[in-house]
Amino acid sequence: MKIGCPKEIKPQEFRVGMTPNAAQEAVARGHEVIIETGAGLGSGFDNDAYVAAGARIVDTAEEVFATADMIVKVKEPQAVERKMLREGQLLFTYLHLAPDPEQTHDLLASGCTAIAYETVTDSNGGLPLLAPMSEVAGRLAPQVGSWTLQKANGGRGVLMGGVPGVGPAKVVVVGGGVVGTHAAQVAAGMGADVTVLDRSLPRLRYLDDVFGGRFKNQYSTAGATAELIQSADMVIGAVLIPGAAAPKLITREQLSTMKPGAVLVDVAIDQGGCFETSKATTHADPIYEVDGIMHYCVANMPGAVARTSTIALGNATMPFMLALADKGWKQACQDDPHLLAGLNVHAGQLTYYAVGKALGIDVVSPAMVVKA
Ligand SMILES: NC(=O)c1ccc[n+]([C@@H]2O[C@H](COP(=O)([O-])OP(=O)(O)OC[C@H]3O[C@@H](n4cnc5c(N)ncnc54)[C@H](O)[C@@H]3O)[C@@H](O)[C@H]2O)c1
Repeated sequence: MKIGCPKEIKPQEFRVGMTPNAAQEAVARGHEVIIETGAGLGSGFDNDAYVAAGARIVDTAEEVFATADMIVKVKEPQAVERKMLREGQLLFTYLHLAPDPEQTHDLLASGCTAIAYETVTDSNGGLPLLAPMSEVAGRLAPQVGSWTLQKANGGRGVLMGGVPGVGPAKVVVVGGGVVGTHAAQVAAGMGADVTVLDRSLPRLRYLDDVFGGRFKNQYSTAGATAELIQSADMVIGAVLIPGAAAPKLITREQLSTMKPGAVLVDVAIDQGGCFETSKATTHADPIYEVDGIMHYCVANMPGAVARTSTIALGNATMPFMLALADKGWKQACQDDPHLLAGLNVHAGQLTYYAVGKALGIDVVSPAMVVKA
């Protein structure tokens, strides 16, 4: 199969869909890999690294799209890229179609087959191609939060781990899923006093079993949150209710009960944010203050550490990418129901129910499509 990887063109996107290591694996199986010149530079991979892996470098995205049977990317195709997709071509990338009718209509019109990273599943009920980015954002949250806590940045001037004779920062993590667990691990590793709140008792049992000695956990109620935030130096928002906007767990009124200069890091901002006063910010201008409380609300946190994020994403996507290349999308989806769960669009038909419901478009069963 001819596998093409264009340079990402969405603003502030430095990741790339294929690492040189992934390219090498594909080439070793007899596939041809075509990379747009400079596609890996934002993640620290130059053209030479891809050439050494056996890939071919081309000058333009047009050449990648015109030549490849499968396009592997990171972000949803932008309007100019969607115009280059063609009937029968396979697209493997993040799509997030439900809030994006324009993209959905363009993909349907192109006749391509599109498999979305974010809806591929695993046997534990997880989302294996979303998890790496949650891991990155979670581990980054205490890092950016501790920077924001510094006095010159508007914070309380508290050191995460304290020093002998001075206690550590108090960190509350709301939501103990993938983001929350990784945030708690890093905050605890920095020496902070960490409490994780979650609504799921099985999840709290798991956290207690695995991390019991390193951080505390508590059942999440409005009362527990209200009490804990009063003494917190940092609160990390990491909740998710699948398919719904994030619930607002700290109101503007409650900010006055917090310590001046305390920090809110709202990782759930990509789902609307879980604090009433959150509004999305960018890496160029990541923090702002409301009523004396500092807020960090960057919606694409993994972009700050593009190299780590690219490699982490590549590790997760590679087995699926290779299966698609080796077998073709139909056979690969017949063999793996978790990959089939990623099928969103095929030959002008929508194949993902939640997207159809959100956009009022008829949906064809993905199982029927792969059998046809
Ligand atoms: N900003 C970014 O760059 C970025 C990057 C990755 C993920 N995210 C976002 O981070 C959020 C968390 O993602 P995740 O992968 O950890 O999800 P997850 O499903 O693994 O975890 C979410 C957790 O929230 C818990 N929860 C739900 N309601 C709660 C409540 N009221 N109180 C306490 N806990 C509650 C759930 O029980 C679950 O354990 C999502 O909104 C995701 O989109 C943002």
